[in-house]
Amino acid sequence: MARLTSLEDLERYRQEVLARRDPKKPCVTICSGTGCRAYKSEKVAHAFQAELEAKGLAGKVDVRRTGCHGFCERGPIVVMLPEETCYLKVKVEDVPELVAETLVGGKVVERLLYRTDAGEGVVHENDIPFYKHQTRLLFHDNLRIDPTNLDDYLAVGGYGALAKALGSMTPEQVVAEVKKSNLRGRGGAGFPAGVKWETTRNSPGDERYVLVNADEGDPGAYMDRSILEGNPHSVLEGFIIGGYAIGARTGYVYVRQEYPLAVENLIGALDDLHEAGLLGENILGTGFSFEILIYRGAGAFVSGESSALMSSIEGKVGEPRPKYIRTSVKGLFDKPSNLNNVETWANVPLIISRGAEWFAGIGTEGSKGTKVFSLVGKVNNTGLVEVPMGMSLRRIVFDIGGGIREGRAFKAVQTGGPSGGVIPESMLDLPVDFDELTKVGSMMGSGGMIVMDDNTCMPDVAKYFLEFLADESCGKCVPCREGVWQMLQILTRMVKGEGREGDVELLEDLSTTVQDASLCALGQSAPNPVLSSIHYFRDEYRAHVEEKRCPALVCKALTSYWVDPDKCIACGLCKKNCPVGAISGEKKQVHVVDQALCTKCDTCFQVCPPKTRAVTKLSGQPVPKPPEDLAVRAAKGKKG
Ligand code: SF4
Ligand code: SF4
Ligand code: FES
Repeated sequence: MARLTSLEDLERYRQEVLARRDPKKPCVTICSGTGCRAYKSEKVAHAFQAELEAKGLAGKVDVRRTGCHGFCERGPIVVMLPEETCYLKVKVEDVPELVAETLVGGKVVERLLYRTDAGEGVVHENDIPFYKHQTRLLFHDNLRIDPTNLDDYLAVGGYGALAKALGSMTPEQVVAEVKKSNLRGRGGAGFPAGVKWETTRNSPGDERYVLVNADEGDPGAYMDRSILEGNPHSVLEGFIIGGYAIGARTGYVYVRQEYPLAVENLIGALDDLHEAGLLGENILGTGFSFEILIYRGAGAFVSGESSALMSSIEGKVGEPRPKYIRTSVKGLFDKPSNLNNVETWANVPLIISRGAEWFAGIGTEGSKGTKVFSLVGKVNNTGLVEVPMGMSLRRIVFDIGGGIREGRAFKAVQTGGPSGGVIPESMLDLPVDFDELTKVGSMMGSGGMIVMDDNTCMPDVAKYFLEFLADESCGKCVPCREGVWQMLQILTRMVKGEGREGDVELLEDLSTTVQDASLCALGQSAPNPVLSSIHYFRDEYRAHVEEKRCPALVCKALTSYWVDPDKCIACGLCKKNCPVGAISGEKKQVHVVDQALCTKCDTCFQVCPPKTRAVTKLSGQPVPKPPEDLAVRAAKGKKG
């Protein structure tokens, strides 16, 4: 494409792109995000191309590979435009039928639609309950954009916000607009972005930097990855606007090496921007010059902390430093530096093009706009959900997430990633925003949301998160390095049935020290899962220590498997499947678990017929002796 040398040039080119496109032309969109690729979406895309070729439809139907739609577990997702017919879990062998029935015949293939609980097929993506309750501002265009095609982004109005900023706003006006929108950083702390921009802009120095934090490290979280993969230009547009507003000539994107597709799409997008004159010297002839460099991080969790991230770019060890002087004053290479995460930058074009007032009209008093969450765990619909700030946890978990798997009971939800906190059922109506989550002992973090059912043991969950954090602690400061490790030792002995009197109180004491004395946010927030779970589930901790009992029947050392002689029908399934031969029993005989051999693998519990449920888990009580008379007492086929 020819280099665009003025704002008018950009608009003229956009109109040319739109004129070349027929919105009524059929288009098969195939989600090609990392999630769908894992389900072989690339093969599905090739199959569509081959089938269209074979049927003489190649020029009449477009095929577009798009970014993530958020409902990755149902991938590959295929949406046929212009009707927006949405098919889930599409396989290569489904392609001929979809072409013949939907593209040629205009009919819907029922079997590949989303099904409601009542068994009804849902034709359009936006009518699927998972999507219906969302407000998708950042993910809205993913369906219409091939992330490797700049024209697609321009066709939905892309780089219009940049043109507006460069053409009709001073840098100070851009900063003021972002301040007025009250956009808060989506990376964790929730600091007002406009305030940080202003500090960086006004800090003394001949050079300043802007940075994208794409070092997404929370287990199970992939919001930033999906935005970068699916719509890299939305982030880059916000980033270039930020560079202009803050007075930077160079920007860095710090992205995880483990995100190859995001890196690939980013590199491709930067090449396209250079060619188009939207990046580099004298952007769109406005005199503003800006360069973007990509830095690949090696995946250390602590490198997401601002000073550690900047050290890593400088070629030093990615360790945090004390922030007596903030990075917005003295950051990368000791210059004023503004770091925001992927999602924060992606909001900027929306704010500039639609205005701060529009943005501030969404959300709550203190938290504006939408937030993308990674909804995972024991919920029926897992995936990325984008909702207005202030939506209740109940609506997110039940209306969007479809409730708890296998009809089990909700127990808690962990928000804010490994350093967040658990929130119990009694607080399901909590409006989710930065301040409300902090008030109840958790935090927004970058948007991880792990749902837990009643089969979850709280000390065990806390131990899981502390294992992660102890592993990821950089070790620079003693309270974090030693404190988190000590807390982990206490939790480990608790779940092993070796908890000591006073352990719960000791955990609380240590938590306070680690919070108060650690150098960076990793240590300061590491005790959150422990403190919040003790706060809301103290009885469960006590049971582990005082009664050597795991109420959720999860901790292996505290749980035994026993066959209830009144229920066993001698079907033999447990004996057949036990991997260590710990179960004995003959025809018409009650089966018996040898406690000395049992490894507590749970297999017998899983295979014992649901109507029978003879295999029982016990905790905090002795295992009853097998009956002397082993003759089966229960009738086969008995209703449970
Ligand atoms: S829990 Fe596993 S090892 Fe123990 S008896 Fe059942 S199947 Fe065998
Ligand atoms: S699977 Fe259940 S019912 Fe069948 S023999 Fe084992 S304990 Fe008895
Ligand atoms: S990658 Fe396809 S829906 Fe997420």
